[in-house]
Formats: sequence, C-alpha cells, structure tokens
Amino acid sequence: MNLMTMNVSITDNEFTQIREMIYSCFGINLTEQKRSLVEGRLAKVLRTRGYSSFEEYFSNLANDDSGAGLLELIDRISTNHTFFYREAEHFDYLQNRALPAIIERQAATGDRTIRIWSAGCSSGEESYLLAMLLREALGREFSKWEVAVLATDISISALEKAEKGIYNNLNVSKLPDFLLKKYFMKLKDDEYNVVPAIKQMVVHRKLNLVRPEYPFRKKFQVIFCRNVMIYFDQVTRKNLVDKFTMHLDSKGYLFVGHSETLGRDNKNLTYVKPALYQHEIQR
Ligand SMILES: C[S@@+](CC[C@H](N)C(=O)[O-])C[C@H]1O[C@@H](n2cnc3c(N)ncnc32)[C@H](O)[C@@H]1O
Repeated sequence: MNLMTMNVSITDNEFTQIREMIYSCFGINLTEQKRSLVEGRLAKVLRTRGYSSFEEYFSNLANDDSGAGLLELIDRISTNHTFFYREAEHFDYLQNRALPAIIERQAATGDRTIRIWSAGCSSGEESYLLAMLLREALGREFSKWEVAVLATDISISALEKAEKGIYNNLNVSKLPDFLLKKYFMKLKDDEYNVVPAIKQMVVHRKLNLVRPEYPFRKKFQVIFCRNVMIYFDQVTRKNLVDKFTMHLDSKGYLFVGHSETLGRDNKNLTYVKPALYQHEIQR
C-alpha cells in the first residue's frame, strides 16, 4: 500500500507506551481524549519517515540515542498556539504596576538589571511583547539598564519561528496599534517582522521545563509560564512552581495562564490577582 494513503491506527498498548514516554520525558499528561489527536499527528511522522507501523516507529525511537527522535515527537505532540497580547490583563498589569515597581526597586538598590523569563514561549509572541513593554517602561533610560528576556521552549520548530520573528495579521491582531507601528517592519501585506532592537533583547533557548534543575545563576524579576502547565498533572505543576520560585527574585512576579490557578500550598508565593503571584520570602 502507498504510504501516503495507508491508514495506521494506534493500539491500546502503543498509546500507553507513547503516553508514558511523553509523561516521563516532558511532563505532558496525554489523556484518553487526546488519543485521536496523537494518532493523527504521529501518522504524519510515520508517513514522512517511511515507517509502516507505530511498532516500527517506537522501536526506532527506543534505539535512537541522539535524542532527535524524541524532539521530533514532542514537536508534533505539543500545542504551540499563541498570539500577541494573549490574556491582555497580564500585560496591562505588567506595564502599569509590576514594571514601574521593579524599576523603582532595582534603581533604589543600584542594581540596574531586569531579567524576564518566558517559559514555554512557543513561537515568540509572548517573549517579544515582554521585550517591547520593558523597553517602553524604561523609556529614555533604557540604555542605562541591562535588560534581557530569556525565552525557552521544548519545541525546535516553535523556537525556529521565534528566532525569525515573522508574524501574520492574525498573530498581531490583538496588539495595540502603537506597538505594531513602533516595533515591527512590514514585509508584505500579511507579514510583519519584529525590529532588530527588540530581537536583540531576547535570547531563545531549548529547555525542558521538567528537568530537575535549571541552569540559571541570576534571578528573574518576572517569570511568565502561561498555558504550559495546563498540559501537566498536579505533581509536575507543583515541582515546576517550586523551581520557578527558587529562580524568582524577592518580590518577583510569576504569571501563569488564567486556567492554571495554583493551589494554596505554594510556600513563599503570595496571590496577587487571578493567575498572578508574587515571591514573598516567609521566615
Ligand atoms: C500553548 S503554548 C503557550 C505559549 C505562550 N506561553 C502563551 O501563553 O500563549 C505551550 C508551549 O509549551 C511548550 N512546552 C510543553 N511542554 C514543555 C516542556 N516540558 N518544556 C518546555 N516547554 C514545553 C510547548 O512546546 C508550547 O510551545
């Protein structure tokens, strides 16, 4: 049978195998409802790689020591949907309350650095917007500060898109007009490229959030991890939030997605408003 037209279906055992692999490597909890989605997305991998069954695909995955197969797998399974100004209240709070407070606090201690982490940045819409708002908040003082946005994700294709910084009308449709005019170059009717001054502020890196420790020496004043934990179970979420807290500066902010409100037992994190927490060190 032609590989392009063959109909491959996943058995119960194979689905369990893939679930366990995805959970242990990436923390993503694939429920039974995701079965047909997984089947559909992986069928494409089978076709492009020329495997005739899931069994053959899995045995190749198990023997692949390079890790490339696993990265391709997570690339296909993860949901990268995002857009500029998603969950606008977060950006309004950041602009009007959090950044002015951070700037004042840092300036008072003589430490003119601000570090923001977009954890699970997908194709860069969140991380570039954070850089734009940071630049706006510092205004004419910008050049006197050392600022950076770290943008991490597990998906290589999302990170490649982020690096390019090219977006269409739909991606930018919620963005305030002045930001679109100021920080994008129009390439074509339906294509905008983020200006170099903003790109230079953002460092994109591959990072698996479920790794036991993160390789950062300096603390962040702000961490955004939105619409990522939704795919994790409670244990994984709790571990993640503990690690974020360790990497947050005192009084630093943790923004999560609006459907990801944290439980109450998050030591040292104070609830500010829905989907926003602040690091308060309790003694
Ligand atoms: C829906 S997007 C969220 C993008 C953006 N933060 C937003 O709120 O619009 C979820 C992202 O989480 C990433 N992701 C999922 N599991 C991950 C893991 N274990 N480590 C790092 N990133 C992960 C996915 O690759 C995807 O790009």
